[in-house]
Amino acid sequence: MDTNIYIKDVTFIITETEEESVERELKASFSQNILAGLMASPKKLQSKYFYDAAGDRLFQDIMQAPEYYLTNCEMEIFSEQTKEIVKTLTACFNSFDLIELGAGDATKSVFLLKELLAQKVDFTYLPIDISTNVIEQLLYKLPKQLPGLQMHGLNGDYFDMLKEASRLSGRPKVVLFMGSNIGNMPVKEAFVFCVELRKALSPGDLAIIGFDLKKNPKTILAAYNDAAGITKNFNLNLLKRINRELDADFNLDQFDHYPLYDPQTGACKSFLVSLVQQEIRIGSTKIMFEENEWIDMEVSQKYNLEEIDQMAFSGGFEPVRHFFDAKKWFVDAVWKCV
Ligand code: AVJ
Repeated sequence: MDTNIYIKDVTFIITETEEESVERELKASFSQNILAGLMASPKKLQSKYFYDAAGDRLFQDIMQAPEYYLTNCEMEIFSEQTKEIVKTLTACFNSFDLIELGAGDATKSVFLLKELLAQKVDFTYLPIDISTNVIEQLLYKLPKQLPGLQMHGLNGDYFDMLKEASRLSGRPKVVLFMGSNIGNMPVKEAFVFCVELRKALSPGDLAIIGFDLKKNPKTILAAYNDAAGITKNFNLNLLKRINRELDADFNLDQFDHYPLYDPQTGACKSFLVSLVQQEIRIGSTKIMFEENEWIDMEVSQKYNLEEIDQMAFSGGFEPVRHFFDAKKWFVDAVWKCV
């Protein structure tokens, strides 16, 4: 009897770990953002929520799809021009921290890390990712693959972790933001992002940012409208995730995927269109869809070089170099903080 009471009391004073509280906050903001987005007009969901475990796998499949050229283009840049990229970095610093925003599996950056190690450059690799899983995988995998690599994983929000990086070391910084991830921000947000990035850095620091370039509109649209329907499933998967995590009842058969590219603005957009008038339940909330009402799912913004340079200047950077693939479909732009 006594023992039971004692155990009960203990349960009350056990507090959650930091990881559990981060998890709980993420879940709460997921729920709030999804509901607010679906109650807004027009309806909108944030593409950052595409990446649950199934979404990660679907994105891997997209990168393998014949129409999705972005990954191959940037892979070509990082595999064939690493010596030149390293030259650009070592022309600026003797030693530095290489910070990667949204490192993922670091497939492309590994080329750069290898070359830096081969040339005995004094650097530390600091991958930042919001996913604990991603950071754990990298900390496990990279030291084996790249003996001698100095590395420190940072798990959390980009700007919080950039601050953390500054606390850890006073060395100059080279920030990598690859894969056209900047394209998932509308143009204005991307400008604000660059201003924020500049604030987190010091004069002389470098940023290497991957941009997808404007090109034949059919080539771009095809990349987001693959024949196998992977991109469609990638979009629908967010509805599946909402069903599972927020106790909702989306019927995926009653939504279709509608991608479009506007060559004038450079915005490649993705929508899910309700095929019928229907009511969806999310927990205890009811959401009405008219027939043909759409959800704005994602933007993948395309730029030209002038627009990219303009973004550098207005953010407080100066363009240093452009690394292109052979087709000039993609660019990794090197900017220096002024
Ligand atoms: C991961 C943001 C670069 O926008 O091209 C791929 C995501 N969406 N197909 C992109 C995506 C649909 C991708 N990024």
